[in-house]
Parts: sequence; structure tokens; C-alpha cells
Amino acid sequence: MRIPMEQEAASFVSRLLEELASYGADDQGGVTRLLYTPEWLQAQLFLAERMRALGMAVRFDRVGNLFGRLEGSSKEAPVILTGSHIDTVRSGGQYDGAYGIAAGIAALAYLKDTYGQPVHTLEIVSFCEEEGSRFPLTYWGSGNMTGMYDWQSGSIVFDADGISLQEAMEAAGFGRPEQEASTPVNIGAFVEIHIEQGPVLERQRKRIGIVEAIVGQRRYAITVRGETNHAGTTPMSMRHDALVGAAEMILQLEADALVSGEPLVATVGRIECIPNTPNVVPGEVSFTIDVRHMDETVITKFCDAAIAKFNDIAKWRGLELTIIPWLEAKPAPMSQELGDKLERISNDLSLPCRRMVSGAGHDAQMFAAHCPTAMLFVPSKSGISHSPQEYTSPEELAEGVSVLAALLYELAYEGILP
Ligand code: HGY
Ligand code: MN
Ligand code: MN
Repeated sequence: MRIPMEQEAASFVSRLLEELASYGADDQGGVTRLLYTPEWLQAQLFLAERMRALGMAVRFDRVGNLFGRLEGSSKEAPVILTGSHIDTVRSGGQYDGAYGIAAGIAALAYLKDTYGQPVHTLEIVSFCEEEGSRFPLTYWGSGNMTGMYDWQSGSIVFDADGISLQEAMEAAGFGRPEQEASTPVNIGAFVEIHIEQGPVLERQRKRIGIVEAIVGQRRYAITVRGETNHAGTTPMSMRHDALVGAAEMILQLEADALVSGEPLVATVGRIECIPNTPNVVPGEVSFTIDVRHMDETVITKFCDAAIAKFNDIAKWRGLELTIIPWLEAKPAPMSQELGDKLERISNDLSLPCRRMVSGAGHDAQMFAAHCPTAMLFVPSKSGISHSPQEYTSPEELAEGVSVLAALLYELAYEGILP
């Protein structure tokens, strides 16, 4: 089924992404839209308005996931769900997450206008949070839908300003018991479209990436405590310098990742130093580590070895070490059958495609254990993402919408589910 919508889809999706990017536009030319902030709420309300205007039934659940629904003619048929996340990293791009929502809205609007009511209810979801940029947890939206989280666990999780997740959720108008629960209704399939956030498709001149699996990942918050002291009067041999200790741990982590070899990746993305003053020996440093691989045993072995070395370094330097795990996402295989459909549709649309593993985590990871789940990518210019330089052309955005619409058509109108 060729979707003659490409021109309209290109302009519809590009315009929608531009408008969305204005909610959280920062002065580095990026987008910073963190969970439950005013710009996050305005973005969700803006999307709710656009979904409603396109004839979808709109609702929020109690953690702030937004749904646009095309009611199906069959009440028993399982729901076909597509979507992605509305939050961003700090000073991120305008495509990560947002594209999956804009493409889903475009696909549902096209299918409704062209084919009328589906047999299976079709829903587009804008998940409230996936990145873990404000609170030390990720997948808050899809994790609540798939039972990974209890929505009331937010009172013990705090952002850098000491605001709890629960307080922030209530301040944004959510988190009340009488609001709709996030539990999954009977979902027949979940499909997420996303930018690749890597260089493979562009390098290999492919237009569609069909995700076979999403890597597992583990994140920790590490705190190293030493002794704050005077930079001028404290001899080097008498220091318990938390920053030098953390630096040795971070270099050790990189060395071990290089020894372990690709595709394992280990990243220290955030570091804070107290008191962060030029003439004071740092007394406390906290940093995060993020480790990913397709094989969970490799992740476990790597993390256990790294933590043992961190303890040795702390002991040798007379430092105290605290290690808090805050994410453990298992590697998630995607549905082979849905992947085959995506490949056939891409070939029918003469869009060169390839199967691939996702090194980035995604909401689809949360659904893989619950229902047949598929993920498809469109190219990222120079593979750049989590940056204001993130870019995908309107043509490539539209091609992704065509493939998504064709798959949703088969699932929701023809009722051909794996
Ligand atoms: O970090 C990730 O892989 C995703 O962008 N949240
Ligand atoms: Mn991201
Ligand atoms: Mn994303």
C-alpha cells in the first residue's frame, strides 16, 4: 500500500516538530523539556489539542501519559499502540522521542481520513518521561504502563533541587488516585518509530532501520567522599582528594571498557564536585555511570568488576564510596514477525532498509515482554543525537511515516497480528 501522503506528511511532521521544539527551547539552540516542568506540560497540552482537532479521543493517565485514540469497531480486539516520549535530555534535539509522537499522529490522521474507522482501536501515546534527565529513574511513562513502577513510588525520588517526583507530578496536575491508572489495557502490538541516533543508516545509504533488539543498560549514581581541605597548606601526601579518586575510577572504567571491546559502552555523563572551588581540595564528588551491551551477563560481569576496582581505589586513597543502582533495563528482542512485515513494507515502498540492534534505550524495551513489539528508525544526519545538531530531513521523516502507517493499517484495519 503506497502512502501517497508523503508530501503532506513531510510538511505536517516537520511543522509539528518545529512547534513542539518551541516548548523548552533553550539558549544553546537545543530543547530542554524535563518531566513535569511548565514547558513539558505545555507540550503535552499542545499535543492534546492537535490530537483532538484531528478527531482523536484524548485522555491523560495519572502519571501524565497522553493518549489519542481512534475507537475500533470491534470492542474485543486488542488495542494497537504506537508512540514515544515527550521529554528530552538537557539541550537535546527536536527529534528524539518527539518524532515518534508526531509520526504517530500523522499516521493515525491519514488512516482515519483514508480508511475510516479501524477494526482494532488505534492509539498514539506521548509517554511522559523516558530519558532520566531530571529524576534518577527512566521510563517513568512506559514503566508505569507496563507495571515496572508503582505510581506512588515517586515520594522517595528527588531531583537536583530536592523536589520529589510526587511533588512535581502533583504540581503538573497529575498523581491523584482518582485519575486514570496507567495499567496496560489489552495491547495487541506496540510499534515505536524513532530517529536512529547513530551513523549506520546514513553511512550505508539505508532509509529504514528495522530494530531486532534493544541493548540492556545499567546506570549507577556513585558518590566519593574524602576530606575538604586548604589547597595551599595541605601537603599532597596528606590529602583525601575526592576528585582525584573519582578521576582514577573514571579512567579505570574507560580502560576496562576498551579491554572488554565493542559493542560494550560505558559512559560517565554527569559529575558534580563539592565545594567546586579553585583553592579547596574537593571533599565530595558524585558521578553517574551508564553501561550497555546486548548480553546481560556481560553487563553484570563488567559492572561487578568495575565496582570492585572502585572500592580498591577508595580504600587506597582513604575515601568513602557509595554506589546506588538506579536503572536496570534488560536487553529486549523485538518481534521477528513484525520485523518481517516492516521489511516487506519497506521493500514495497522501495525504501532501502536493514535490520539492526539499537544501542539507545527506548520505551519499546518496556513493552517487549508484554506484547509483540516493533521498532523502526529513520536516519540521523552524521549520526548526531542528544544535541542541538540533531537533524533528519523532511523526506526521511515522511518515509518513516509511510512505513509506520502501512504497518498500523495491516494491524488495525486488516487485523493481521502476530
Ligand atoms: O539513553 C538512551 O539510550 C535514550 O536516549 N534514553
Ligand atoms: Mn534520548
Ligand atoms: Mn528517545
